[in-house]
Amino acid sequence: MRKFSYIDLIATLNIEDAHPGGFDLTKKTLRFLPLKSDSQVLEVGCGSGKTASYLYESFNCSITTIDINSRMLANARKRFNKKKIPVTLHQASAENLPFKDNSFDIIISESVTSFTNVDKSLHEYVRVLKKGGYFLAIEMTSERPLTLKEESEIKDVYGISKVKTVREWEQALIKGGFRDYKILKGNTIMNTSTNSIDSLPFQKLPPEGIELLHRFQEILIRYKDVLGYRVFLCRKR
Ligand SMILES: C[S@@+](CC[C@H](N)C(=O)[O-])C[C@H]1O[C@@H](n2cnc3c(N)ncnc32)[C@H](O)[C@@H]1O
Repeated sequence: MRKFSYIDLIATLNIEDAHPGGFDLTKKTLRFLPLKSDSQVLEVGCGSGKTASYLYESFNCSITTIDINSRMLANARKRFNKKKIPVTLHQASAENLPFKDNSFDIIISESVTSFTNVDKSLHEYVRVLKKGGYFLAIEMTSERPLTLKEESEIKDVYGISKVKTVREWEQALIKGGFRDYKILKGNTIMNTSTNSIDSLPFQKLPPEGIELLHRFQEILIRYKDVLGYRVFLCRKR
């Protein structure tokens, strides 16, 4: 486990859309959700808060966000305060959500669940979703089973316990209680539009952060045909 993690890296650089496909994919996939002004929405792992702000500005719905990382939360809080967006923010883990059963109509998590104990988090999402509620997830995939060496290189950079294949994600969703799901989109990460990184505050990174950034770039190139993502739309029956 690295002292300066991938999450520290994106929090320090305040990367706004830290998921495959970036904000373009966010906007496209949100169209699949029945978002209304009376929807109770939970965003798990809100990061910089950009998606939550967009949700409020576009749909005027009630938004709760959680994230485990205090630097991420500070970035999100700053955005919500500046834009005067009434989002309820909690520091909490996806694995142990501080909400009652059947609380939300919609849960969104963009490249978050991979960083958690997936079984525990999916179980929590099902628990706090209302019956008939939707769960939208963008998650990293490996497009073929990885060798142990490949797996360990990728895990070392992202700090996750496993990069799941699409089949493994499907099995996890079913095991978690989402029998009703579909895959809306998918691609390799490198073939996906992301935002320019030219203006990021690289000077804020400690030496281990710079080293991790270089490793990250190497991994993206080395595994350009292997690392992918899928957008899963799931429904609680
Ligand atoms: C790759 S970033 C994605 C952030 C944001 N969703 C986005 O797309 O920009 C992963 C996020 O998940 C959060 N995270 C990681 N583990 C978590 C956990 N157990 N519970 C809640 N959030 C977690 C991190 O702090 C980080 O903000």
